[in-house]
Amino acid sequence: MRIAILSNGTGNYSTKRLKEVAMARGHEVKVIKYRECYASIEKNNPTVRYRGEDLSKFDAIIPRIANSMTRYGTAIVRQLEAQGVYSVSSSISITRSRDKLRSMQLLAKAGVDIPKTVFSRNSTDIDDLIEKIGGTPVIIKLARGTHGNGVVLAETKKAAKSVLQAFYLSNEDGTNILLQEFVKESAGTDIRAFVVGGRVVASMMRQSLDDDFRSNLHKGGEGKSIKLTEEERKMAIKAAKAMGLNVAGVDMMRSARGPLVLEVNASPGFGIEKLTGRDVATPIIEYVELNAKRRPKKDKIGA
Ligand SMILES: Nc1ncnc2c1ncn2[C@@H]1O[C@H](COP(=O)(O)OP(=O)(O)O)[C@@H](O)[C@H]1O
Ligand SMILES: [Mg+2]
Repeated sequence: MRIAILSNGTGNYSTKRLKEVAMARGHEVKVIKYRECYASIEKNNPTVRYRGEDLSKFDAIIPRIANSMTRYGTAIVRQLEAQGVYSVSSSISITRSRDKLRSMQLLAKAGVDIPKTVFSRNSTDIDDLIEKIGGTPVIIKLARGTHGNGVVLAETKKAAKSVLQAFYLSNEDGTNILLQEFVKESAGTDIRAFVVGGRVVASMMRQSLDDDFRSNLHKGGEGKSIKLTEEERKMAIKAAKAMGLNVAGVDMMRSARGPLVLEVNASPGFGIEKLTGRDVATPIIEYVELNAKRRPKKDKIGA
C-alpha cells in the first residue's frame, strides 16, 4: 500500500516508528509535512498537493496533527477525505478531541464516567456551580489547553472566582472554560491507555515529580508501565469509541467511584513504547491494512 504520514517531519519519534514499521511490512511510505500542503477547493475536483505532487494517489493517511495546528491540519485531512483517501483518524474526530467541552459532552452522553464538570460564561452563579461539583478545591481548565498549561487548581471559592473572571476576560463566549471537580484521590497521577481499533495496546501511569497536581510528562511527570483493571480497560475503549477515534490516548484518573476519563488525545505520543516496552506502531499499521480498503464507516457521533 501507499501510506502517507502527515506530521511535522521525520525527526519525531512517533513518525519514525510508523515509517519504520510500515516499510518493514512492505508498504511504500512517505512523510508529508501537512503544514506545507496546499489545497484547491473545486467542484468535483478537490486536490491536495505537497511540493508539486498530488496526494490523491495514497491509499491511506495517518494524521499526526499537532495541537497548535489543528485547524490547518484537519482542513488538509478533510480535503483528502473529500477525494476519497482513507484516513485512520477522521478530520471530524480530531477536531472533536481538541475541545474538552465538546469531548466531555460526548463522553457523558456515551455513558463514560468523567469528573463532575460545569460550564458558564460568567461568574455570577459561581456559588451554585461550585456546589454542583462538590465544593472546593476546584479545577478550572481551558477547553483548548494542552500539556497541562491551561489547568488551574483553585483552593477556595474566592480564588476560583478571580481566576474565572480573569479567564472570561479573554474568552468572551465562555466555551473555552470548564469547571471541574478536583479528583483528589489520585491527584498528581493519571493513567494513559493507548487504544487502537478497539483494543488497549499499551498503558502507563504518570506521576508528577514535584508536588504539582498535574502529571503531564511535559510538566516533568514520570511514567511507568501499569496493568489496567478490567473496568479501566473497558472505559478506555468506550471513550475512544465515543469520540470516533481509531487511534486514541485515553487519560483517566482513579477515583473513589472508579475510573474517570479526563481527555482523549487524537495524536497520542509514542513515548509510551519506551516506557512500557510495548509496540504501538505495529497495531496502527495493521489497523490501516485491514481498514483502508473498506468504505470508511459513516461517523454516527452526531456532534
Ligand atoms: N479534575 C481533575 N482533578 C484532578 N487532577 C486533574 C483534573 N483534571 C486534570 N488534572 C490533572 O491535570 C493534568 C492535565 O489535565 P488535562 O485535562 O489532561 O489537560 P491537558 O490537555 O493540558 O493535558 C492531568 O493529567 C491531571 O494530572
Ligand atoms: Mg492531558
